[in-house]
Amino acid sequence: MREAGIAPGMRVLDVGTGTGVIIPHLLRALQGRGSVTAVDISPGMLEVARAKGFPDCVRFVLADVTDAAFPDASFDCAVLNAVFPHFEDPVRALRNIRRMLAAGGILCISHPVGREAVNRVHREASGVVNGDVVPGSEEMSAVLSACDFVAASVIDEPEFYLALARKPS
Ligand SMILES: C[S@@+](CC[C@H](N)C(=O)[O-])C[C@H]1O[C@@H](n2cnc3c(N)ncnc32)[C@H](O)[C@@H]1O
Repeated sequence: MREAGIAPGMRVLDVGTGTGVIIPHLLRALQGRGSVTAVDISPGMLEVARAKGFPDCVRFVLADVTDAAFPDASFDCAVLNAVFPHFEDPVRALRNIRRMLAAGGILCISHPVGREAVNRVHREASGVVNGDVVPGSEEMSAVLSACDFVAASVIDEPEFYLALARKPS
């Protein structure tokens, strides 16, 4: 979360929170100030996350981020950990996330393992994740600029993937 620039007071959107795995990391970075809005398309995942008993500054919302209707500029940072390859329409999802970010807001797309490892797992999996791939650096940078994000940087290492960008100020 340090790499994402999350700081006390920020309003963080945790996109595709799943079972809320990264919420403790977000709360540590916020140091008791700010909020986390955790959205997921799956009621089952949200139920598990809710049962973890996070503090009141964390709220859970059942939504597809592609058409989630939070007001413009609701968040200072959007974190997408291990979710980007699962979007049916990544461009629409990113455009809606951009709308919900404040000017200068941070977009952080991460994977706890490298792109090759994620793609191998998804290739070999049966079911819904089969075929979901993390784009390479050039393709990701192109998608981010097509969605009007700026200052994009992509770290694509064997054990870590991090794409960072900002909504223009
Ligand atoms: C592999 S899990 C990652 C969960 C969590 N971010 C983590 O790091 O453990 C991907 C999650 O993204 C959710 N998801 C996929 N597409 C979504 C969308 N369009 N809007 C919201 N959530 C979505 C899935 O339901 C799933 O819970």
